Amino acid sequence: MSNGNKVVLIGDGFVGSSYAFALINSGLATELAIIDIRKDKELADVNDLLDATVLTSSPTIVKTGTFEDCKDADLVVLAYGNSQKNLVNRLNDIKIASQMVVDTIPQVVEAGYDGVILLATNPVDVIARVVAEVSGFPKEKIVGTGTSLDTARFNQYLALESKLNVSDINAYVIGEHGNSSVAVWSNANVNGINIREFIDKIDDDYKDEVGELIRDKAFKIIKGKGATHFGIANCLLAFTKAILLDEKRVLMASSYLNGEYKNKGLYTGVPTIIGKNGAEKILEMPIDDREQKMFDKSCKDLNENYKLALEVINK
Ligand SMILES: NC(=O)c1ccc[n+]([C@@H]2O[C@H](COP(=O)([O-])OP(=O)(O)OC[C@H]3O[C@@H](n4cnc5c(N)ncnc54)[C@H](O)[C@@H]3O)[C@@H](O)[C@H]2O)c1
Repeated sequence: MSNGNKVVLIGDGFVGSSYAFALINSGLATELAIIDIRKDKELADVNDLLDATVLTSSPTIVKTGTFEDCKDADLVVLAYGNSQKNLVNRLNDIKIASQMVVDTIPQVVEAGYDGVILLATNPVDVIARVVAEVSGFPKEKIVGTGTSLDTARFNQYLALESKLNVSDINAYVIGEHGNSSVAVWSNANVNGINIREFIDKIDDDYKDEVGELIRDKAFKIIKGKGATHFGIANCLLAFTKAILLDEKRVLMASSYLNGEYKNKGLYTGVPTIIGKNGAEKILEMPIDDREQKMFDKSCKDLNENYKLALEVINK
């Protein structure tokens, strides 16, 4: 650990650089070391970010990094991955991203790092499991961004539909960040009042339609500009803050299930208390039978997809 809050960011593309910008503006980190295989991009972003730090209230020391930087890091963040321009289905990225983990995580561990590894790399639930396997770290030290972005999209949708302030909407998405995500309608509420009081057309078809809209949002954004990055950057920032400041916030992380929600042995998006030790406790909110069935199917899909990652790990 450093004397302040040192963050090592591995992967400096759209997501990594947006996160770096959000991080320096937050003043949360005393030091940020950036590692990317594209050395020109890494150096250019460091110089650009250093200019930006001048006008922040608490300037972060930004530098190009090496894996040695992980030695005294307080948090390691993974934002590498397959370019979103190639996104057909997040599952296509499994082998590519698993290889990145195999190429980098042993170096993080060899440097002496034993803290929390936060990741957004897709498919995030499968890759969290790959990072756990390759690092050998306790399961709770691997924290994926899970369904935090899907949850933000669900809340944003409900706010527009109900014409209410998004801060007052409490609604969650669980399961895979991707094709089989599950929007939990049964306990969606506006400061404790059931969402049905504000949107009257909620039947199964409507739920499926909204679920589809949430899933498709990424594809629409990518079609327009090649990547989604601001939303996930702020999700990563919320996780960073919760970990560095030991906030015990409940965030929709990819966490390792050990019987919660009737499933075990895999990472997926569930409400989780996030603090300095990573995913400190999974919270079980009530879900209805339909949601449980969808969640079970999501876990089954993730277990199936992990087999592709295993081919890379065991190579
Ligand atoms: N979890 C989420 O909700 C969410 C949302 C958006 C994007 N993502 C994911 O984030 C990842 C990054 O997306 P992006 O748009 O920034 O992609 P990008 O192509 O812009 O950036 C990826 C970066 O990773 C770097 N990289 C590749 N291999 C590396 C290695 N071994 N070591 C260090 N750096 C390496 C590349 O050089 C590149 O700069 C993807 O997996 C994407 O799907 C996740």
